[in-house]
Parts: sequence; C-alpha cells; structure tokens
Amino acid sequence: MSGSALRGTAFRPIRRSVPVCLIGIAAVALLLVLPSGAAAWGATGHRVVARIAEHYVAPQTARAVEELIGPDSLVRVATWADEIKSDPSWNRASPWHYVNVPPGGSLDTAERSDRGDLLEALERFSAVLRDRQADPAERETALRFLVHFVGDAHQPLHSGYAADRGGNDVLVTWFGDPTNLHTVWDSKLIDHQDLSFSEMAELIDHPTPEQIADWQASTFRDWYDESRALLDDVYDLGDRRLGWDYAYRKTPIVEHRLLQAGVRLAGLLDRLLGPGSIAPPSN
Ligand code: ADE
Ligand code: ZN
Ligand code: ZN
Repeated sequence: MSGSALRGTAFRPIRRSVPVCLIGIAAVALLLVLPSGAAAWGATGHRVVARIAEHYVAPQTARAVEELIGPDSLVRVATWADEIKSDPSWNRASPWHYVNVPPGGSLDTAERSDRGDLLEALERFSAVLRDRQADPAERETALRFLVHFVGDAHQPLHSGYAADRGGNDVLVTWFGDPTNLHTVWDSKLIDHQDLSFSEMAELIDHPTPEQIADWQASTFRDWYDESRALLDDVYDLGDRRLGWDYAYRKTPIVEHRLLQAGVRLAGLLDRLLGPGSIAPPSN
C-alpha cells in the first residue's frame, strides 16, 4: 500500500469501527455456540454422579469430605475440573479427562499420553487423597479431581479414539441442530430429559444390593473396559441425524453409567477416607 493510500485511510476511523465492532460481536457469538472441545459429562451429569454418591458414602466418609471441602460439597465441586479449563495455570490437567486407545487396540500396548491420562489420574489422585500425611490443600485438590474423573470414566467417549478426539470431530445433528457426537453424550442426551440434577439423581437411583456390591468391587480398568464395550452402541449413528430414535435407545445407557459412577464414587471415597483407609481394588 502506498503512502498516500495509507494517509487516505487514516482519517476514516469511524466508518471502519462499525464492521470491526460487528466482527467482535460475531466472534464472541461464535465462541459461545462452538463446543469447547474436551468437556466431560455436562454439569448436570457430573452433579447427578456426585448426588448419588452422597447417598451411599459412610457417615465417617461424609465427615472427612466436609472437613476437606465443606458442606454440600460433592455436588458443588463436581464441575470444578471443567471450570479450571479457562485457567492457563491448569493447562496441564486437560489430558487427564480421557484416555484414548485406537480401535481394536489394547490399553496394555497402546501408547499412553506422557502428560497423564484419565486412568493414570484416577490412580494418582487416589494415592494423594488416601495419604493422611499429604498436604491438606493437595488432598482437597485430589478430591475435587476424583469426584469429576469418576464421572468421566463412565462417559464412553472419554475412553475413545484419538483419531476423532473422542467423538468431538464426528459431526451430527441433534433434533436438527448441528453439534458433535461427544457433546451428544456429554450433555444432549441428559439435557433432553429436562430434569434438574437432583430430579434425575432421584429418578435413576435404584441399584440392587447386588449391583452396589458388584460395582464397588470393580477396578478402574473395569470401568474403562465397560466404556470401551459401549462404543459400538455410541457410534451406531445411521445417517447422523440424531433425534427421538437415538435418544430413546441410548438414554438408558447414559442413566446406567451415571448410576454406576455415583455408586462407585461412594465406594472409592469410603476406601480412601473411611476407617483404616485402603487402596482401591487393583487388577
Ligand atoms: N480430546 C481428545 N480425545 C478426547 C476424548 N476422548 N475425550 C474428550 N476430549 C478429548
Ligand atoms: Zn472431565
Ligand atoms: Zn466429555
């Protein structure tokens, strides 16, 4: 651009400020509608898991939880691990929400993230929470992460495939609106029911005593295996226009996973914080 052209534009700032302003508004609007990538069960799903866990923890566990994070706390902290995604000082935590293994691959031979992953984080934070000598602030952080990650471990796409970023890159429509498969499983299938977290928790919280015993004896690896086994169901997409039929067929799976996660979170916290705390079951 020549000097005279520059001078020519320099005196027309007001006319240019309108489109710049519009671009700004459009950018903000776009950010608001775009999915944020590696979210987790949406807020409702994580709160359902925490509310169900509150029903099953032993009184001593509930007291230990309250000492670390205050009253009414499991539900309150369940979404904290997603909220800190906007804090750059927590960037290192992003890979801890999921574990990706290629289709047909095995966890034992797959290349795992050297920045940590969901299964590694469950082990690591369990060890911190269990350690009564550890710094209380670190134990509090460990508890916050665990409440959240037990939920994530039950969202099948958080044990997914790197190639499509756990379904984030699989474009679908949900009742006509463009979205992606990951968001359908994090939020859409849950929010579609139009229940509060406490209503949904109450509705699904009916495990048998055998289920409670069975589920609480399972390992982190079992949770992963179950999530992986559900992926065929998750990817059963037809023409990718998802609506009533998909919701009808998949909602029972979501509810089952949320219930398992809640019951298992209670069992895990009892082990880590209860009398004579013991390590979670291992393979
Ligand atoms: N980003 C990459 N893989 C992911 C997954 N499985 N879940 C959520 N976010 C991801
Ligand atoms: Zn998460
Ligand atoms: Zn997610």
